[in-house]
Amino acid sequence: MQIIRGFRDILPDNIWIWQKIEREAVKLFKDFGFNEIRLPILEKTEVFARSIGEVTDIVEKEMYTFPDRKGDKLTLRPEATASMVRSYVQHKMYASDPIRKFFTIGPMFRRERPQKGRYRQFYQIDAEIFGIAAPYADTSLIFLLNELFKRLGLKDLTAHINSLGCPDCRPDFQKALLDLLESKKDELCVNCLRRKDTNPLRTLDCKAPQCRAALKDAPSTIDFLCDECKEHFAIVKKTLRQQGVEFIEDKTLVRGLDYYTRTAFEIQTRSLGAQSAVAGGGRYDLLVKEMGGPDIPAIGFAIGFDRLVEVMETLDKKVEKETLDLFIIAIGKPAVKAGYLWSTNLNLQGIRTEVDYRGKSLKALMKRADKLSARYVLIAGEKEIKEKTCILRNMETREQVVIESDKIVQETIKIIKNNN
Ligand code: HAM
Repeated sequence: MQIIRGFRDILPDNIWIWQKIEREAVKLFKDFGFNEIRLPILEKTEVFARSIGEVTDIVEKEMYTFPDRKGDKLTLRPEATASMVRSYVQHKMYASDPIRKFFTIGPMFRRERPQKGRYRQFYQIDAEIFGIAAPYADTSLIFLLNELFKRLGLKDLTAHINSLGCPDCRPDFQKALLDLLESKKDELCVNCLRRKDTNPLRTLDCKAPQCRAALKDAPSTIDFLCDECKEHFAIVKKTLRQQGVEFIEDKTLVRGLDYYTRTAFEIQTRSLGAQSAVAGGGRYDLLVKEMGGPDIPAIGFAIGFDRLVEVMETLDKKVEKETLDLFIIAIGKPAVKAGYLWSTNLNLQGIRTEVDYRGKSLKALMKRADKLSARYVLIAGEKEIKEKTCILRNMETREQVVIESDKIVQETIKIIKNNN
């Protein structure tokens, strides 16, 4: 049996990278005042369709949507923000305190064409801030991302930032864009011809070469910002500079989801080929209200966990392989039983211990100890059990000590912990 195309098993070989990233991210989130929230993988389709936008690639072509047995339309979440807002509104979290900072980590599903860095089940590390309109929410998130990547030792990442304006300044921009689309309509692909009438902004991230060429001088949101949006964006940029966060102001960055207002950003890398965005996010000041809540601003980001792991793998870093502290070689039934009991007690004390129960020879078991990179081996043969002793051998220095059977657990812990 084979796994579904675009889905992956994440095998123990490189799980340490996943764990390291998660440890660093969770630590930073805690230090910056974020609380974890766990959300369902399945939601009613409308949760995503309305928020992400009906005329987006995600909603039009990429969602795993199916009717459940009663006919309700359900969707495997393609991202976490919509569910986060649904939860914030459903539990009326704003009533006791509108200002909330959440993070969540888990799988997302999009039926895209699989390639390196692009999967149909992938993972995101997602963070959202509700209730802060000030530009410092924007800078704090970009700063946090920058700090995380720094702590992980990543260098060739660039932050791209843009402002997408607000309902006050969008219409002027949209009009300029529509005028251009109208004048270029013979050069656009069929999708963009449709988008022109349904969601013109989406023509700006069309990958078709003829659209790219036709729209190369397209207007950008930044040239149409109202005074408030301009000031907001200016403070974001100035503060990031003061904090030493490098970024590129990128007028072409429009993001693939419809809910954004004002600041939008992406962290891009050159090391993953076409899938260059390692993280993306932005402000979505209208979404809480659109999803049935009060008028509360919000902003967030999501890191592509799989992509971040792949960037980490390109670094020339030592692999942190899990080694075994102790391998117990037990020969004969009484020794195997004793070995099992010792191993459980040692595991409880934080000593990673294994026993082999298959009744193999001493030679075969020594080979296995090597294969498992065991730091120590405890040998309990028939002779040793009779004499109520065991041999503890340091596999690196080859030194051996004899330990009395009834002191195995304490003595082994002492020796192994002293040599850590
Ligand atoms: P997004 O840009 O669609 O934004 O996704 C965020 C990140 O998820 C991307 O930059 C990429 O690293 C990763 N990603 C997306 N699709 C795939 C895929 N098929 N395979 C592997 N990685 C992928 C969002 O999802 C927004 N919810 C971000 C956000 C949070 N905005 C505000 N709050």
